[in-house]
Amino acid sequence: MTEAVSYFQDRTCPYHPPAGYRPLRESGPLTQVALYDGRKVWAITGHREARALLSDQRLSSDRQNPAFPMPMERFTAARQVRTPLLGVDDPEHNTQRRMLIPSFSVKRIAALRPDIHRIVDELLDRMLAEGPPAELVSAFALPVPSMVICSLLGVPYSDHEFFEGRSSRLLRSRTADEARDARVELEDYFTELIAHKEKHPADGLLDELIADRLRTGDLSHEDLVGLAMIMLVAGHETTANMISLGTFTLLEHPEQLAQLKAEDGLMPTAVEELLRFLSIADGMLRVATEDIEIGGQLIRADDGVLFPTSLINRDEAVYASPDELDLGRSARHHVAFGFGIHQCLGQNLARAEMEIALRALFTRIPDLRLAVPAAEVPFKPGDTLQGMIELPLAW
Ligand code: HEM
Repeated sequence: MTEAVSYFQDRTCPYHPPAGYRPLRESGPLTQVALYDGRKVWAITGHREARALLSDQRLSSDRQNPAFPMPMERFTAARQVRTPLLGVDDPEHNTQRRMLIPSFSVKRIAALRPDIHRIVDELLDRMLAEGPPAELVSAFALPVPSMVICSLLGVPYSDHEFFEGRSSRLLRSRTADEARDARVELEDYFTELIAHKEKHPADGLLDELIADRLRTGDLSHEDLVGLAMIMLVAGHETTANMISLGTFTLLEHPEQLAQLKAEDGLMPTAVEELLRFLSIADGMLRVATEDIEIGGQLIRADDGVLFPTSLINRDEAVYASPDELDLGRSARHHVAFGFGIHQCLGQNLARAEMEIALRALFTRIPDLRLAVPAAEVPFKPGDTLQGMIELPLAW
């Protein structure tokens, strides 16, 4: 019997899935993989099967279920608390999500675009004034989404060093204790911020939720703190990684980049293709609450189910030459934002930010290039959101 492939593995190239996952593509659409603690879970690599399962109510997102699979030790910290929205199933999930949807609608995000443009331009003004070389993650890729989510939520950006640090520890620490400490510090921060806002209301989604949901008793204090944390963490780390890794990937594909510069109308499809190709959230997890037959296999109740988006988004049955970056292809239907009831709440915002940031970056600095050889640019390990640790650029 062949040994189960271990998951997570580090990427060897920042934009391709690890070579060690290849057997999963060959043996799909469902294969057993081994997590860090030796537990076997189902890895779903077929695009059709993944979308069917991600919309199947027999799979649960409840991290407090003792059978919920944990991909690394630090994730076990999530067992101790109820994670609102991301960690609850319907009907409760639906009630919470409906409170937030209006703030992330296409219309509301379109109204935010002038603010995003201003933030992007100011950061680029500063980067250009300081002159090359520049480190893109700290000068641009992280502050853009961080400033935008702060303004949307009503969180003071002056606290960014505090919450960016805790958020990165939450996502990247080695141990459950470190992750728990980071979570508790963020919880304390939001408890204080919400108490302050209750006395001194201002503008922002948190203020709206206090007035319309907390005061009416529709939302508990604990859940408001949890929702604020999820939106802040998910709202800046993710898009920051897409901007940094997207820039690196475009610089490594000069013909594609030239086409993008020549045809501005290509930007929306290019963003979808980058989302598909990079699949930065590479491993959503669920637990089965009942037996499910799919793809000729039987997933049993309490089995763990893993969705490696980098493989699902390269299913040859759906995408021709999936390992090639093709900014002109229609990459719609990718699962980079997930699928089903938990599909990314912030996707309209993330698209707008990527589009505005990448367009401005390559228009204002047309001769942008890597400041060091590509092989020397440090990128993140496989067990976290994929992206660049630093991106040194010159022009
Ligand atoms: C390119 C950037 C982004 C990527 C790749 C991404 C990816 C994802 C994925 C894969 C999920 C599904 C998780 C699951 O099913 O277990 C998700 C959910 C979520 N995302 Fe994003 N995200 C991005 C940006 C954002 C932004 C800007 C926000 C802003 C608030 C956000 C907020 C959320 C929230 C709140 C959820 C949970 C939704 C629910 O459970 O109903 N994300 N995201």
